[in-house]
Amino acid sequence: MDYKKIVAEEIQKLVSEHLTYDQVYQLLEVPKYTEHGDVAFPAFALAKALRKAPQAIAGDLAAQLNHPYIEKVEAVGPYVNLFLEKAAVSNAVLHEIAAEKQAFGTADIGKGGNVPIDMSSPNIAKPISMGHLRSTVIGNSLANIMKKVGFNPIKINHLGDWGTQFGKLIVAYKLWGNEEKVKAEPINELLTLYVRFHSEAETDDTLNDEARAWFKKLEDGDAEALHLWEWFRSESLQEFMKIYDMLGITFDSFNGEAFYNDKMDEVVELLDKAGILTQDRGATIVDLEKYNLNPALIKKSDGATLYITRDLAAAIYRKRNYDFAMSLYAVGNEQSNHFKQLKAVLKELGYDWAENMHHIPFGLITQGGKKLSTRQGKVILLEEVLNEATELSLKQINEKNPTLENKEEVAKAVGIGAVVFHDLKNDRLNNFDFDLEEVVQFEGETGPYVQYTNARGLSILRKAAVELDTTEAADLGLDDAYAWEVVKLLNSFPEIIQQAYEKFEPSVIAKYTLHLSQAFNKYYGNTKVLVEDDKRNARLALVQSVATVLQEGLRLLGVQSPEKM
Ligand code: ARG
Repeated sequence: MDYKKIVAEEIQKLVSEHLTYDQVYQLLEVPKYTEHGDVAFPAFALAKALRKAPQAIAGDLAAQLNHPYIEKVEAVGPYVNLFLEKAAVSNAVLHEIAAEKQAFGTADIGKGGNVPIDMSSPNIAKPISMGHLRSTVIGNSLANIMKKVGFNPIKINHLGDWGTQFGKLIVAYKLWGNEEKVKAEPINELLTLYVRFHSEAETDDTLNDEARAWFKKLEDGDAEALHLWEWFRSESLQEFMKIYDMLGITFDSFNGEAFYNDKMDEVVELLDKAGILTQDRGATIVDLEKYNLNPALIKKSDGATLYITRDLAAAIYRKRNYDFAMSLYAVGNEQSNHFKQLKAVLKELGYDWAENMHHIPFGLITQGGKKLSTRQGKVILLEEVLNEATELSLKQINEKNPTLENKEEVAKAVGIGAVVFHDLKNDRLNNFDFDLEEVVQFEGETGPYVQYTNARGLSILRKAAVELDTTEAADLGLDDAYAWEVVKLLNSFPEIIQQAYEKFEPSVIAKYTLHLSQAFNKYYGNTKVLVEDDKRNARLALVQSVATVLQEGLRLLGVQSPEKM
């Protein structure tokens, strides 16, 4: 329930000559300290209009306010501090969640509009890096959040399956490769070839020329080049799928860079017709000086197209195919300039819809404070990380709850959930260090802590063994301070979801689930929930609501909620 709405209505009635309802609503604040009430109105906003001291206005308003949801009103300096009637508000909130269940917090902001989300997008023949993991889990969570607020997300894996690196790979494979080895361990072997290419190319200039020539052959449809490319692609994709399965993440499209090969001529034509192509030392470019950006390189001197050319084709294709309301790209911060250029070129083409394209950048995952890179082969293999996380969580389960059924399955949900949660709990632009031991702890600000809180709630409900009648359960309102903190947090969930959507920031939800877990654990530590008195059902309704909201919060992040752990 939006109790700010009730408060705003009541106050507006008293000041209707000077402020509209919306103005009053906007002015309302949530005091930092609970001693100052649950909602506060700054009376100085009326001082000029009323030609009165704010203190006096606050006093007048406080004396007149009266509503069943308002317990008491205090004028403190220029503020009107309102304390809500805890029992009445708790009743209303718990009823609402019990009735709506997982749908609590759903909104219709998006009106069904399509939102393609470019996410994950690893490069063929290279391992999925921790950076791609970030793109994958941020994109997936954004898709869940967009859906929750009424959009229709379309998850697109824009695979890096085209580009000069395939020229390098073909050359390396032909020189040093071995079919059996690639089949046995595709990504490892292809990575080894790629790394070897780069180290040998440092002393042998001809290698890069050969690589360029092979990529050109590939673009011209040469049978041998195409055959090798297809083979590398399918072997790599199979490996990627293993990781997506572990994460429980699916895609609506795997249209990668190669998908746009036959759509490139049109892009070049469009640019040409718009008169924005220029030649620069044999290369074809779009000048972007007026945007303060480097020129966009559309075609190299040998006619080969580039990353941005394919992204132009992809953007236009997505607009035509999905008529998107918004188009998102969950891609690392280091590609910011690329996306600025992409939008600028589309604007030069006169496409106003480029305004609805949003790059969702994120920071780096570091280890010991250092950046990870593929070139030197120094890369954390994601599959290993996820397996290790699962093992570590199994170890903890064995210590804490050795008789748990389905231990292996729970360990997977906890271990993988821990990695995902850790990735999402920080503001996405922050860089963060990755220390697996810390990530899978059952205590502290971790995913397992939230999962554990939910499991604890469910176990209380199992012990209580009552079928909660959702219409009656909460009727004896809770009015103690610990419960009140929980109720207020529960009630803010819809607002939290909206904030996460507006900022494209899953961390808002992750942090919220941590706060709710902390508040609930405090409540639980100070309350005998199961004691047989007349508020037992109300307390159980609170437990049920917490479990519902934690599960839904975790679901929005793409993290599972095991029932027992
Ligand atoms: N494959 C690219 C990389 O690994 C990411 C692609 C992002 N998506 C896009 N439409 N450019 O760096």
